[in-house]
Formats: sequence, structure tokens, C-alpha cells
Amino acid sequence: MFGLVLIFVIPAVLANPLAPRIECPKFTPVEDFDIPQYLGRWYDIEHSKWNFGGEELLCTSPKYGLINATTVSVENFSLLDSALGLFPVKATGTASVTDIPGSLLVDFPYGDSPSPLTPDGYGNYNVLKTDYVTYSCIYDCQPTEDQVYDGVIAWVVSRTPQLADAARQECEDVFFSLGVDMSNFIHTYQGPDCTYPED
Ligand SMILES: *[C@@H]1O[C@H](CO)[C@@H](O)[C@H](O)[C@H]1NC(C)=O
Ligand SMILES: *[C@@H]1O[C@H](CO)[C@@H](O)[C@H](O)[C@H]1NC(C)=O
Repeated sequence: MFGLVLIFVIPAVLANPLAPRIECPKFTPVEDFDIPQYLGRWYDIEHSKWNFGGEELLCTSPKYGLINATTVSVENFSLLDSALGLFPVKATGTASVTDIPGSLLVDFPYGDSPSPLTPDGYGNYNVLKTDYVTYSCIYDCQPTEDQVYDGVIAWVVSRTPQLADAARQECEDVFFSLGVDMSNFIHTYQGPDCTYPED
């Protein structure tokens, strides 16, 4: 009987992802996260819609480089699809390790104050699952009382511009278990019109 009740309670929580999120679900980033293996270029496959991740950004490809043992450089390259054509844009920042393995704090120094850790000590770039050579599943959950934004951003990135469905599913299964609203996912264009910076 209690089993049945639980089955009905959990979907009710998951079904309302846009409720203000004053708590984040428990999640565990990759515990033996290995930064050197993670460096290099990735291609954005899909992600939640957010302020710096709209539909007008095509061919998005973040690149990570080692600065020192605790800091990684971040270069996000995209083509901005505008009425006047495609324009290259780049966001440059850093990612620093936190006390939690697999949880990094990415910061783009564009005016506002540096991104804080969550009250539980998590950064905004949590690698939930990766095999380093094919795919990576990234998750950010910030407690918020915002009525519209639920505080969650999730990304799937790939080592190649296209990612096999099975690998994408690995990420979506993890996201689903955390109640991520994937209905607003933007599937980043990585087609033949893309150009990428030379590595
Ligand atoms: C690593 O580099 C960052 C950014 O340049 C710097 O703030 C930090 O102090 C450096 N840490 C170490 C251990 O050298
Ligand atoms: C850069 O790309 C990464 C991975 O797609 C994402 O985590 C990050 O939020 C992006 N930031 C910006 C400012 O584009």
C-alpha cells in the first residue's frame, strides 16, 4: 500500500518542475573526476533554455584548457544567427574546482559578481556522467524562489558535432531521475554550415 502511494507522489513532484525551487535534489557528480582527461573541445548537443543559451546560438563548442591544478580556462565558441548572417561569438571564463569532486564553478567575468557556490557547496558545473571520449552530462541547480525560472540548467556535450542517440540517452536518463524539465531543451545546430575555431 505504501509502495503504491509513493509511486503516485513522486511523479506529482516531478510534474511541476517550474515551481520555485528552494531546494535542489540530491545528486552526485563524478566522484573520480579527472580534469586532464576532460580538457579539449566539446560540442554542445542540447541544453536547457537559459539567458546565454538561446536558439540563436549555433555550432556552440566549449573548449577547456589547463591553467593550473585547480583552474581551467573556458572558451565557449558559437555562431550567432542574426538577420545579417552568422557571426562568431566567444565567451571566455574560468572553471575552478570546488571541495566536491566533479563539481566546478564556472565564472564569466562580464560585469556582475562571481558566481557563488550553492549553500551545499556545489558549483554551477556539475559533471554527472562522462566517459571523457564521447559524451558528458552537466547539471546546474541553484535554489531560487523565482516564480518562472526553476533554477536548473542541464547540458549534453559531445566530443564530436553529432552524438549517437544511445549516448544522449545516458544523459537524459540521469536528468530524468533528477526531475529536469527537458521539454524546453534546445537542440544545438551542429550541421554543415558550422565552422569551428582551429585547435
Ligand atoms: C590558478 O590560477 C588561477 C587563475 O589564474 C589563480 O587565481 C589561482 O590562484 C591559481 N592557483 C594556483 C594553485 O596556482
Ligand atoms: C558555455 O558552454 C558550456 C557548455 O555548453 C556551458 O556550461 C556554459 O554555461 C556556457 N556559457 C556561456 C556563457 O555560453
